[in-house]
Amino acid sequence: MKELIIIIRPEKLEDVKAVLDEVHCGGMTLSTAMGCGTQKGSTEGSVNELKGLKTTINLLPKVKVEVVVEDKIVEDVIMKIRDVCATDHVGDGKIFIREVEDAIRIRTGERGVKAL
Ligand SMILES: Nc1ncnc2c1ncn2[C@@H]1O[C@H](COP(=O)(O)OP(=O)(O)O)[C@@H](O)[C@H]1O
Ligand SMILES: [Mg+2]
Repeated sequence: MKELIIIIRPEKLEDVKAVLDEVHCGGMTLSTAMGCGTQKGSTEGSVNELKGLKTTINLLPKVKVEVVVEDKIVEDVIMKIRDVCATDHVGDGKIFIREVEDAIRIRTGERGVKAL
């Protein structure tokens, strides 16, 4: 099992939810977040960028979706999320992937992928 930590533009959330529904993910956890990437929050065409000014870090609103999935669907999920989230502009986001050792459904005691 792998945990995908998917950080996206808030306006892409509905598309990402549709992808996760399509691949039959068991569940997901969502948080709103503030973040920046390489551009430190300076957006394309922003006044600071146009003036070539060096600025302090600017955090922009993002949405973080955490989902644990079976190994065999990981590449498919990543590809589908890129398809809906890539705009070719800075700030499209990132997906971090972590190994998950085990999972337990508290209600039934099921373990591993059965608990997803
Ligand atoms: N190295 C990182 N560690 C944690 N979060 C990150 C990292 N890089 C990007 N993020 C998160 O992803 C969001 C979008 O990043 P993005 O601007 O697309 O990355 P980059 O500029 O590096 O291509 C950021 O606002 C931040 O929330
Ligand atoms: Mg960036």
